[in-house]
Amino acid sequence: MQFETKCIHGGVHKDQQYNSVTTPIYASSTFSWYDLEKNTGYDYTRSGNPTRKALEENLTDLEGGKGCSATSSGMSAIHCAMSLFSPGDHIIVPVDVYGGTFRLFDRFLKEKGLQFSFVDMTDHSAIRAALTPQTKCLWIETPSNPLLKVVDLDAMVSIAREHGAITICDNTFLSPYLQRPLEFGVDIVVHSTTKYINGHSDVVGGCVISAKEEHAVKIAWLCNALGLACSPFDAWLVLRGVKTLGCRMEAQQASAGKIARFLSDHPRVRHVFYPGLETHPQHELARRQQKGFGAMLSFEVEGDRTLVEQVCTRTRLFDMAISVGGIESLISFPTTMSHASMSAEARVAAGISDRLIRVSVGLEHVDDLMADLNQALA
Ligand SMILES: Cc1ncc(COP(=O)(O)O)c(C=O)c1O
Repeated sequence: MQFETKCIHGGVHKDQQYNSVTTPIYASSTFSWYDLEKNTGYDYTRSGNPTRKALEENLTDLEGGKGCSATSSGMSAIHCAMSLFSPGDHIIVPVDVYGGTFRLFDRFLKEKGLQFSFVDMTDHSAIRAALTPQTKCLWIETPSNPLLKVVDLDAMVSIAREHGAITICDNTFLSPYLQRPLEFGVDIVVHSTTKYINGHSDVVGGCVISAKEEHAVKIAWLCNALGLACSPFDAWLVLRGVKTLGCRMEAQQASAGKIARFLSDHPRVRHVFYPGLETHPQHELARRQQKGFGAMLSFEVEGDRTLVEQVCTRTRLFDMAISVGGIESLISFPTTMSHASMSAEARVAAGISDRLIRVSVGLEHVDDLMADLNQALA
């Protein structure tokens, strides 16, 4: 089946009683047993729920994995995946990783004994230099947030395999419609389903999808033991959102490409970060490993924080808000918003300046969006 068909039909089992076309919300915390040994396969919603199972089957299918655990947020998905590691284990992480991931790794998991090296993942010699005998994982985020650096999945997998480590990829920014890391040999994919997979800015969720049965079973065990699973209602919302993933991504990335070109030509814009631009340093790599360039971009203004503030507060269609991937366009200032949990030094090291603005392009008409940015920059 083609991707768009899987989005709509994956994981949907006709309900036995009324033949509903969509999966019902099984809002039951517990399920009764037939006898002392047997139940329907569900006993308690933290451990398993039919609505959540439908979403997990759908997402497993879309990423091409062996199993999925749907979680209460992207961060709980990341925490769940990181719970595979033990004190002393070393993980290599992009220097410009999402701010919440940085906080979890640098401020929490480090205290629990995990070790991290934050490196520029586009620099393969820097990755090799960071490897230690304790390195158990290469954490990948591509394209990165907010600078849209593209990391070479083939290269990451071969460096990790040579070293006996695994690879985990945060695929939130492209969704499985535009990039499927498991097809490159990546072991585990995580998503904030809050973003493109749900797409309607009305739920916070996440998922962990594993290429190997062995990892899928461990992740499901951790998800239950740590109590990270999403509610049946949230699972149902995400399952509804994912049905339109393909056509949303197509339309949103087409607009993002036009906006990136429009901003590149604007006199008050110093630089645009968008992998679809031929000038982007990893444009060819993005063309090879992605099905499209995505709907996220960032740009530096030709001016200081005053101009940044002017642009972010004057747009009328782009709401100034954290998050990405919804049908509504959003604009944000990474320094005080998505990346506020990074220290100023860490932001400088990652190349996130005080003149950087991040944009998530939604489904509004692209001419209206460009007119809105134009008046805000004027
Ligand atoms: C790339 C990326 N990964 C993970 C997350 C965390 O997801 P959530 O907010 O659903 O916990 C975010 C949130 O913005 C993100 O941008």
